[in-house]
Amino acid sequence: MRIFLDTANIDEIREVARWGILSGVTTNPTLMSKNSGMTHEAVIRTIAEIVDGPISAETVSLDTAGMVDEGRRFAKWHPNVVVKVPSTPNGWGAVKALKAEGVRTNVTLCFSANQALFAALAGAYIISPFVGRLDDISEDGMQVVRDTVEIYRKHNLPTLVLAASIRHPVHIIEAAKAGADIATVPYDVLLKSTKHPLTDKGIENFLKDWQTFTTDQSEKPVKR
Ligand code: G3P
Repeated sequence: MRIFLDTANIDEIREVARWGILSGVTTNPTLMSKNSGMTHEAVIRTIAEIVDGPISAETVSLDTAGMVDEGRRFAKWHPNVVVKVPSTPNGWGAVKALKAEGVRTNVTLCFSANQALFAALAGAYIISPFVGRLDDISEDGMQVVRDTVEIYRKHNLPTLVLAASIRHPVHIIEAAKAGADIATVPYDVLLKSTKHPLTDKGIENFLKDWQTFTTDQSEKPVKR
């Protein structure tokens, strides 16, 4: 399973790109609105300079023609742009039209396996089931990821399953176990997922022991 960052914050993207684990980025209008002072195009182009992988940019039109127009415009910004459209009949129509022009799509706001099936039949490159928002209304969000993976595998549908609306570190593990191709993770959740107190303690102890050892050998301790 690949890890994408769910953010439009350039500093966060730069930081995680440095870790060597980042394969792409997803944005949405809410995330974009937090990036004051930059146009949509400038944000997407800047991200494309940092990350060599799919970068999702979301349309805001409600009709198919509007989504297709926006999608065409976004696709010119960079070859890695993937156009986000909602899980609606108009969205699936836009998926089909954009695919015919060679533009990849990410069907977002997916809350059921039926919606995921229809996105794949229309020719979506990525489907984004929203896990956390279903959990918020007392449903099992990860079940939609499991069902979607099962249906796609059973029917040889090539659409990638991207677990979205990830809220905590265990969601990442569950998405990987469910067979999701990608999890898109907010920066704070990713940061929490990197930490383990025993790793910090282990580094501290090894460093302390090495200092004693290197004193004996009259060497300098290794700087971490
Ligand atoms: O990118 C869309 C998605 O990941 C949103 O997450 O936390 O707003 O439900 P959230």
